[in-house]
Amino acid sequence: MRRGSIASLLGIGIVAGGIAAAVAVALPWLPTPASREASRIDFEFWFVVIICIVIFAVVIAAILYSVIVFRAAPDDDSDGPPIHGHTGLEIAWTIVPTLLVTAIGISSAIVLSNDDALGKNVLHINVTAQQFAWTFSYPDSKNLTSATLMLPKDRSVLLTFTSKDVIHSFWVPEFGQKQDTVPGLHPTLHITPDRLGTFPVICTELCGLGHATMRTTAIVMSPKAFDKWVAGQSKAVTSPNAGQAGAAVFKNNGCAACHTLTAAGAAGKVGPDLDKLTTYAKQAKQPLAAFVRSSIVDPNAYVQSGYPKNVMPGTFGTSIPKQQLDALVTYLTTNGSK
Ligand code: CUA
Repeated sequence: MRRGSIASLLGIGIVAGGIAAAVAVALPWLPTPASREASRIDFEFWFVVIICIVIFAVVIAAILYSVIVFRAAPDDDSDGPPIHGHTGLEIAWTIVPTLLVTAIGISSAIVLSNDDALGKNVLHINVTAQQFAWTFSYPDSKNLTSATLMLPKDRSVLLTFTSKDVIHSFWVPEFGQKQDTVPGLHPTLHITPDRLGTFPVICTELCGLGHATMRTTAIVMSPKAFDKWVAGQSKAVTSPNAGQAGAAVFKNNGCAACHTLTAAGAAGKVGPDLDKLTTYAKQAKQPLAAFVRSSIVDPNAYVQSGYPKNVMPGTFGTSIPKQQLDALVTYLTTNGSK
């Protein structure tokens, strides 16, 4: 091979690699990580991207050089020289990819095992997915529920998923991982948030008409602020003032995702409009309070016309403490009538 050819190949390779590297760096492919796990995944991502850029540069250099230098003259109909392989080249193109793929495999395995390794003092959170809302409950804090995923910074968090209906998928882009929620299974996901902020929680599996609305937020706060939030919420839902407690129960259980209720600033459109509860109760020929209670505990007993059956989860009314259910019924009967 002549020195001129090597220089041309190198030149093309450097330009192609430079363009690929610029595209890789200039575009915001991934959000800034907000968890230790996401940072490790980002490292692995860039490790693979760099390998790909180098291979891309080599391939483009070989292709462009061949197209330009070995192109046939317009009137040349002759065959090219017969070639019977090149042992050295074949060994090289077998060994190099083997080493690269092995390196990617080993580094990925290390990242996965580190990401799954729980830290000390793990915070357990149960995540319930249903059409079309996320609910988070904190078994270490008397099953306190929240429609927003509240997390303390720098603490190992283990999410355990339950789906009440179909397959959903939990995704916080900044946490770098996705987890499908499959009915009948209880998969887990380990997160160690390491950046304060508010991040989107997205359902990333088509799960029905309201799929696009199945969103909430994750808030990463200082451990102190988190403890304060837990104490404040526990106090709110058990407040002797049924109106206050009911408002907290309504908010913490994500009712707003599906229902409209002016008093709570809720504007959901999936389920019946709770501002019209008095009218609905009259149509159902039931006293208001009894109607509200049975609609929560046994939602399919009477379904308001114009709304789908089997969407309101029947387990909700039986899974919260009776005192909170009473507070919610009082709250809805006082605020849900215009
Ligand atoms: Cu739940 Cu899409």
